[in-house]
Amino acid sequence: MEEKITEQIKSAAEIIRNGGLVAFPTETVYGLGADGLNSIAVAKVFEVKNRPTFNPLILHIENQTRLHTLCEIPNNKVYDLIEEFWPGPLTLVLPKKIIVPEIVTAGLPSVGVRIPQNQIALELIKESDTPIAAPSANLFGQLSPTRAGHVQKQLGDKIDMILDGGKCSVGIESTILLIEEEVITLLRPGGIPLESLREVIGEIKLFPKKTDRPNSPGQLAFHYSPKTPLLMLTVDNIKKYNRTKTGAIFFKGNDSKFNFTKEIILSRSGSLSEAAANLFSTLHKLDNLHLDCILIEPFPQVGLGVALMDRIQRAVAKHELNAIL
Ligand code: TXA
Ligand code: MG
Repeated sequence: MEEKITEQIKSAAEIIRNGGLVAFPTETVYGLGADGLNSIAVAKVFEVKNRPTFNPLILHIENQTRLHTLCEIPNNKVYDLIEEFWPGPLTLVLPKKIIVPEIVTAGLPSVGVRIPQNQIALELIKESDTPIAAPSANLFGQLSPTRAGHVQKQLGDKIDMILDGGKCSVGIESTILLIEEEVITLLRPGGIPLESLREVIGEIKLFPKKTDRPNSPGQLAFHYSPKTPLLMLTVDNIKKYNRTKTGAIFFKGNDSKFNFTKEIILSRSGSLSEAAANLFSTLHKLDNLHLDCILIEPFPQVGLGVALMDRIQRAVAKHELNAIL
């Protein structure tokens, strides 16, 4: 690691230890970090994000020793998951120990924890010597940031520091599993596909249905939205769409299919992981062009495609509601 970034990480860790806020890169999206054992610091995260306090935060840790100080392990499958997927984009929701402040878990008896797969994040956690509570570093309801510039734009003047680690390699938030004694439930599809998880631990229950009820953390129907209205249409229908100032996002293929103001192909070869890495930054880019509308084609509902469709459907939901109101 370069000397400059090592110095920056040291300053960032000092800010965290003193109760301040630092945005930092992870492999999924940028996080807005605070000392996860300091309730006042964590409260600031909710404040600057404008995030409802009923929505709990994930604790980012550097190793398994720390895990055992924070929570119980009710099910031995947890060890198989950790062995296979940590560090990486998998969050485990486990029964919390008393040391975890109520504000982190929004009063729930369980806490979300993960070890991120990003060198800067890991160094920051180590140097801070505390679990780092971090939601995605965006304003509540808006697009998640996958570059430092995205954070700067939304939160730059409200936080103490942004660590720039370039573009996030995975580009979509972690998969979240609720771990109970008898059952393991998917709370949010994300960077690790359900198929891969099932290969390791067998059955995983699916969370009933998305809702905008406040008592269902991680399940808010409206989320991740660009400001420009986003519509999901099949390529055939995209072809028929003939308004001006329109952007179009395609999953795969060669460039410039039609005559829209801007057309972007997420992955020429049709790789879902490449598409995931590019999705949020593409939405950020198009959102800055002051278009009337952004069109996007559906993804195949397998592997990472499930998480991609989840994010698009939530982004679309808000605009559909706006159109109705
Ligand atoms: O990839 C990620 O998970 C990123 C990076 C920064 O790690 N973080 C992230 O955090 O996406 P956030 O706060 O934007 O989303 C975390 C989700 C929330 O929807 C929250 O409701 C859910 O995790 N969550 C956290 N703790 C929970 C708990 N104890 N029970 C149920 N859901 C929980
Ligand atoms: Mg978020």
